[in-house]
Amino acid sequence: KNIVILISGRGSNMEAVVRACEAEKWPARVAAVISNKADAKGLAFATAHGIPTAVVSNKDYPTREAFDAALQTVIDGFQPDLVVLAGFMRILTAGFVEHYAGRLLNIHPSLLPAFPGLATHRQALEAGVLEHGATVHFVTAELDHGPVVAQARVNVLPGDTEETLAARVLVEEHKLYPYAVRLCVEDRVTIDNGQVTVAGNN
Ligand code: GRF
Repeated sequence: KNIVILISGRGSNMEAVVRACEAEKWPARVAAVISNKADAKGLAFATAHGIPTAVVSNKDYPTREAFDAALQTVIDGFQPDLVVLAGFMRILTAGFVEHYAGRLLNIHPSLLPAFPGLATHRQALEAGVLEHGATVHFVTAELDHGPVVAQARVNVLPGDTEETLAARVLVEEHKLYPYAVRLCVEDRVTIDNGQVTVAGNN
């Protein structure tokens, strides 16, 4: 299977997926890492691992539709079975999302449906929740609302700041995302009526 990973920055989740794919010998390979920012730190890691990279800068396109169309062309050049958003900081058009229906994954740093959107750790602290975490979900047209594949939970501790909480969640993200991507490339995930079923998970 071909996995294409989209990043915008640091790429630590991308790195976790690449490392797990290699170490656990998944029936898959990371065929490309694509960034909308030329200076994304994660591109260097991909290159060092012999993974083709591409940059499609949203600044080069006048509209979201034009950017998404260009991005789609580059992605499809790698014949992806799965497209993995890993800190990809662009809202995608309905047409793009539709094109990759059932094969487009995202990781969001909250326990969805709680705290969609940005600044999730601040949102969690302000809401005073005792538990926070991360969610891997299929992407649908509605932002941060698609069928959930898996979640990881952390406790919110007294004295937590956005930074300490983000760091605790990130540790879990680095286990959760490889786990969820692996389920997908092993064909263990089906979506039925907006609900995910995982095969062989008793
Ligand atoms: C992660 O917390 C991810 O959930 C998100 O942005 C962060 C990206 O980090 N939405 P990285 O680029 O994977 O290191």
